[in-house]
Amino acid sequence: MHTAVVTGGNRGIGYAVCGALAHKGFRVVAVTRNPAAPVPPNVEVVSGDLASRRTVAALAEALSNTCGTIDVLVHNAGVWPTRLRHNEDGIEESFAVNHLAPFQLNMALAPKLRRVVQVSAGLYVKGRVDPDRTPWGKDFHRMRTYCDTKRANLLLTPLFAEHWQDAGVTIDAVHPGVIRTNLGDPGGVLGAVLRLVKRRWAPPEAGAAPVVRLSSATGTGRFFNVEKEEPIPSEPELARRLWEQARKLTGAG
Ligand SMILES: NC(=O)c1ccc[n+]([C@@H]2O[C@H](COP(=O)([O-])OP(=O)(O)OC[C@H]3O[C@@H](n4cnc5c(N)ncnc54)[C@H](OP(=O)(O)O)[C@@H]3O)[C@@H](O)[C@H]2O)c1
Repeated sequence: MHTAVVTGGNRGIGYAVCGALAHKGFRVVAVTRNPAAPVPPNVEVVSGDLASRRTVAALAEALSNTCGTIDVLVHNAGVWPTRLRHNEDGIEESFAVNHLAPFQLNMALAPKLRRVVQVSAGLYVKGRVDPDRTPWGKDFHRMRTYCDTKRANLLLTPLFAEHWQDAGVTIDAVHPGVIRTNLGDPGGVLGAVLRLVKRRWAPPEAGAAPVVRLSSATGTGRFFNVEKEEPIPSEPELARRLWEQARKLTGAG
């Protein structure tokens, strides 16, 4: 039986990905912050927090103890920060969860990995990453920071593909579409308005479909806008800098 690990498996797109992969016959391990969080039937839970270097290291260890080979690791968990918050390392919350945590898990779990699917976001096109400012939230913006962190994360996909060439681990990234979830819900009146707007958006199952398709695909270093392959921006100098920075900030790799 093939094993899939899905971060953020307790709600939104991740919940639907877990359900679909279990239905396809995978042994599915959902990573959730709350150990009692609901997950679909036949899905196991490993609880863990992607918030900081320390908690990601603990999660990597827990996953190592629970899983043999990880046939696919789906980095689905993500945060759209509506206000500036720092983790215990002094890193802006979404830079830690969306960018550093997948990097650290990839490095820590590499010997067990066969394939990685990174849930990205089409909004990366609006992102501008400044390695001297973005990690610490010095350029925080409630609309743009999410895009910045998704761009940083996406720029490393081709570098992981290259890094893992000899090991045979593959990695692709995918924008799941515009999907009705609680992502970026600011609460209050604005949140209520946003929820009304989102009623027209596609359900989580639609966002899960391209992620599930890529989970069993071959190929590496690519980005898919839902089903359509699109080029990843070529910013080799920035990408290399972000790679080295992620190594330093996470102590991994
Ligand atoms: N929805 C869209 O339209 C859309 C579009 C493009 C890309 N995406 C991407 O799709 C992915 C899933 O998003 P979604 O829309 O399904 O969002 P969501 O409903 O808000 O779910 C986010 C998930 O991430 C988990 N998470 C957040 N911070 C975490 C942390 N520190 N440690 C562990 N888990 C954490 C959440 O867990 P808790 O329940 O504990 O908070 C939750 O399970 C994200 O990567 C997002 O960027 C979504």
